[in-house]
Amino acid sequence: MADQQQQNPAVTASPEPERATTSTAPAAATPTTAPIPTPAPQDELVPGDDPEDDDNADADSSLGDDAASSTASVTASILEYRTIQGRTFHSDRHSTEYFTPNDEQQMQSVDITHHYLTVLLDHSLFLAPIKPDVQKVIDVGTGSGIWAIDFADQFPTAEVFGSDLSPCQPEWVPPNVRFEVDDATLTWTWKDNYFDFIHIRYLFGAIKDWNALFREAYRCTAPGGWVQSCETDVRFYSDDNTTDLEPVLETWKKLYEDGGKAMGREFFVHDEERQETGIREAGFEDVTIVNYKLPVGGWAKDPKLAEVGNFVKLTMENDLEGYTLLLWHNVLNWPKDGYQIFLMGMRKALRNRRVHAYMKVRYVYGRKAESPKALASA
Ligand SMILES: C[S@@+](CC[C@H](N)C(=O)[O-])C[C@H]1O[C@@H](n2cnc3c(N)ncnc32)[C@H](O)[C@@H]1O
Repeated sequence: MADQQQQNPAVTASPEPERATTSTAPAAATPTTAPIPTPAPQDELVPGDDPEDDDNADADSSLGDDAASSTASVTASILEYRTIQGRTFHSDRHSTEYFTPNDEQQMQSVDITHHYLTVLLDHSLFLAPIKPDVQKVIDVGTGSGIWAIDFADQFPTAEVFGSDLSPCQPEWVPPNVRFEVDDATLTWTWKDNYFDFIHIRYLFGAIKDWNALFREAYRCTAPGGWVQSCETDVRFYSDDNTTDLEPVLETWKKLYEDGGKAMGREFFVHDEERQETGIREAGFEDVTIVNYKLPVGGWAKDPKLAEVGNFVKLTMENDLEGYTLLLWHNVLNWPKDGYQIFLMGMRKALRNRRVHAYMKVRYVYGRKAESPKALASA
């Protein structure tokens, strides 16, 4: 592959990450840029001491226990959520299907996810070198809206939009934030060349055609503006094979592999390089790829990564059902009586500190040229 990807899970002190770009103009050459966060890179996730006994020792208990056009106005039908096993999912009005609920419990997990990703980036909300006087910004598939809200607080002169299939965002938000009900897989209703920054995060399992998504993003990005995509591969990896200690993690993997195939919306978008391919083929330049390992649980020696890992674990424990029930029961029709056993196994696996598991997260960002070339239509 032409890009040198940056493998960057920080554990020890190290120099600023290298950022591989695919065009001649390096990102750093952009005039007035906002400060770029520089989490230290590291090839290896180093585990801290394992517990002496008890596979289920949970050193993280302080974090709590288990716990046609796109935009639509909020009409009654949008609020007619589907209820599956006591959880609400987005309205049937959308032709799109999405696998997690839109209720309070799942939004808590979205908020915790936002927290660990922000810690991972050393308290930065983005990696793209956007201008400090950024004006028009959109967070596509905004969920609880937490990124858009934080961004609006940090950039009070920017106008920040958040779009989602569901109006599941809070009412009390900074004055410079607006939420819209919007299906990102349809033609966007936004004008050409409108946004200075388009932020897209955690849409794995939601998108059939990633190239089409980034083509719309390109059309709506202003010359000189940026798109940033962040997606996680939620399989459990380990460098020391300790994930083998918990065979249930294979079931987890199969759930998403088979579920993604059945829905026609893949979960493992890194495998096919959907982000970088889509962003590059849409026409963005200075495409930069940054990879991190995301520990699951507080096992990493590095305190920052241990904190990240604790919150990754918490977000999952908070709503294991929300992440899995639609796939298990409605998409794959797996045996009903196996489901609770699966959940119990997952809870046990998550608490097993001998398992040094991590997921993989990839950030890709690119810039629309100041004088964009006309692209052949797709
Ligand atoms: C895992 S959440 C991530 C939320 C947010 N991007 C974040 O990272 O904090 C995914 C969100 O994407 C939304 N979504 C899924 N498919 C979508 C689509 N076709 N158009 C717009 N939003 C979509 C879901 O409703 C959900 O709120």
